[in-house]
Amino acid sequence: MESSSSKMNQSLKCNEKEEYRFDPTTHNKFKEIMSTIPRRKDAWVFDLYQYEGFWCGSFQLEGMLSAQEHFKPQPNQVIVSSTPKSGTTWLKALTFAIMTRFHVDESTNPLLTRLAHDCVPFIEVNICSSPQKLNLDVPLVATHIPYTSLPKSITNSSCKIVYICRDPKDAFVSLWHFNHKMSAKDQEVSATEDVPLEDALEFFCQGLTTCGPYWDHLLGYWRASLESPEMILFLKYEDLKNDTLFWVKKMAQFIGCSFSLEEENKGAVQKIIDLCSFENMSSLEVNKSGMVRLELGITQDGVNAYEFKNNSFFRKGKAGDWKNHLTPEMARRLDQITEQKLAGSGLTLNVTPNG
Ligand code: A3P
Repeated sequence: MESSSSKMNQSLKCNEKEEYRFDPTTHNKFKEIMSTIPRRKDAWVFDLYQYEGFWCGSFQLEGMLSAQEHFKPQPNQVIVSSTPKSGTTWLKALTFAIMTRFHVDESTNPLLTRLAHDCVPFIEVNICSSPQKLNLDVPLVATHIPYTSLPKSITNSSCKIVYICRDPKDAFVSLWHFNHKMSAKDQEVSATEDVPLEDALEFFCQGLTTCGPYWDHLLGYWRASLESPEMILFLKYEDLKNDTLFWVKKMAQFIGCSFSLEEENKGAVQKIIDLCSFENMSSLEVNKSGMVRLELGITQDGVNAYEFKNNSFFRKGKAGDWKNHLTPEMARRLDQITEQKLAGSGLTLNVTPNG
């Protein structure tokens, strides 16, 4: 009889069909669009391009355009979506564990030996360079693409989208630390010496971050979730922290993988929560010392990729850590923008109070 782990390896196996690699038509369209749209630097001097109302890096733009042309959801496709630094890694791990629980037990789960981003690929990162990775036996992929720019193949389908957002103050602080590590200077200088927090905040408030403006990304998914609650489950990082059991069960039900009473009685939900907890995930060898290879797109010259440490995705894992970094004025500024942007939308965020 086949062991559960070999079954799981099958589940992670890529289905080779419909492979799409370098597509000159999309690439030329991308080049043409890139040459005409607004371009700015972010606080870390990365180039950002403004497309359909949002800022993104060139590789993401090409990935997004390719996804709009080529992405085909699988049957029962589940998509986890977020802005960067809002809890994507955690949400990926939880949905992956929920969807694969029938094939593996807690001792053989691939999350124990692979980074969550390796188990659940991003559409826009892989569509050009490794499209086969998006066609897994576990129909689960992720994206940071804003709702209004999602491929029509997703919005016109019955895909389930689980979206996560976070107090912008914590997302900003998390981004500041992460971008510092990404800019690869962390060996030499501190985050503050690299880009002072005040400078980074200015860019964040202007919306000049990947997928920014942060608030507009949230609002796009929020409005869509009101129109199509059966398609989009809108989660908040802080709610997931405060009542993980409730939200994990809700998520499972939403994606059509509800826990049975028997499973609940056997503690299956709690096992998934424990597996995916920050404490457990951040202490796993793969997440402490492993490296992730990010393929940033494909050109005629080959795959453009670079590597960074898996531990970059695990820092504090707390709600309210902004208090250790932001001055009351900085926090007030972010809260005011949040209030103005969200006014009338019906969306409230779990912003931890200032002061
Ligand atoms: P902090 O930098 O505030 O610690 P993303 O996954 O979207 O890149 O977001 C990263 C943030 O999620 C980081 O926040 C990280 O520590 C936190 N995180 C990662 N794994 C987590 C987990 N299992 N539970 C809770 N938070 C987690």
